Amino acid sequence: MSLENTDKTYVLNTYPRNYVNFVKGDNAKLFSDKGDEYIDFTSGIGVVSVGHANKQVSEAICEQVQNITHISNLYLIEPQAKLAKKIVELSQLDAGVFFANSGAEANEGAIKIARKYGEVDGEPKRYKVITLENSFHGRTISTLKATGQASMHNYFGPFPDGFVYAKDIDEIESLLDEHTVAVMIELVQGEGGVEPLDKQKVQTLAKLLKEKDILLIVDEVQTGVYRTGEFLASNLYEIEPDIVTLAKGLGGGVPIGAVLTSKKDVLKVGDHGSTYGGNYLVTRASLEVISILEKLELSKTIEFFSKKLDELASKYPDVVTKAVGVGLMRGLRIKDADTLSTIITNSFKEGVLVLKAGRNTLRFLPPLTITKQEIEEGFERVEKAFYSLC
Ligand SMILES: Cc1ncc(COP(=O)(O)O)c(C=O)c1O
Repeated sequence: MSLENTDKTYVLNTYPRNYVNFVKGDNAKLFSDKGDEYIDFTSGIGVVSVGHANKQVSEAICEQVQNITHISNLYLIEPQAKLAKKIVELSQLDAGVFFANSGAEANEGAIKIARKYGEVDGEPKRYKVITLENSFHGRTISTLKATGQASMHNYFGPFPDGFVYAKDIDEIESLLDEHTVAVMIELVQGEGGVEPLDKQKVQTLAKLLKEKDILLIVDEVQTGVYRTGEFLASNLYEIEPDIVTLAKGLGGGVPIGAVLTSKKDVLKVGDHGSTYGGNYLVTRASLEVISILEKLELSKTIEFFSKKLDELASKYPDVVTKAVGVGLMRGLRIKDADTLSTIITNSFKEGVLVLKAGRNTLRFLPPLTITKQEIEEGFERVEKAFYSLC
């Protein structure tokens, strides 16, 4: 049986899978079993922040697993404690950290902290969490319900109660009531279409929520760990959320999620947990990832990537309606969904991986370590995909 058929026979069909077989990576390059080379403008959907096969990270992982991979959270875990300290320092928040294994799980933790805060903090009990209609917060039952996109709620009910959707950031204030305990937002909506929220409006909202003792949860699963240029997008927006969630780029490829909160005493022993969360393997890897990213001169990469993106947008005004995004979380709004899917297919044929976001956004999430030469090569190939439309 071919590998493709083995996959089709035994793996549940939940992804629109492309049957290329990548066998080797090198920073922003991927190589298939057929010897074809691809530029990776996706970094595994914002995960491989330090590039593929990063030597420093892989050596740290090898060394770690030869000593201890996992012991459970019932014992002290040296790299976990060090990673928590590092994340808190870089976040510039006065926070504590809980480690999970994914973005959705980090968001579950955030919702639990908010709900408990609303339960023990006087009467009436507060439980409502307001999110945005175009948001994406994960695929577990609660985070799916927290996700505001109605199409995601077609099956799987009944869902937990208490999620309320605002059409946009302006509508949030009118939805706050005595039962509202938190507002959860992405500062740059990723899956929703690479849509940055307005900084001024976010700051005004943050101030209002502080006054009302309503928690601000910022889902930085996609924007966090330097994706927007700063350690947190919250740093870029100059706000201090009560809760921040991280995942994706934090591990550079190992599954890790984290919840940071300034409400350090809400969760007590036994309130929350995870068997794997923050084990030796992932926290050691993440420490290494952060030590690499901390030293990067990201602003030059961002500037060069932006220039190439703007050039492409201005060359094809009939196809691209707008260049969007922040840092290395970028997109091109394409005139319609069919054209977008042709561009993605043709880009792949030309040897470059790109992503879709929302209905009609061509999304770019390259490794943060991408080189100038890799950016140039990637854009040459994307441009060929655009050219083939003409
Ligand atoms: C903003 C945001 N939140 C949560 C998630 C869910 O993360 P995970 O797939 O790791 O559960 C994602 C994934 O794309 C995301 O972009």
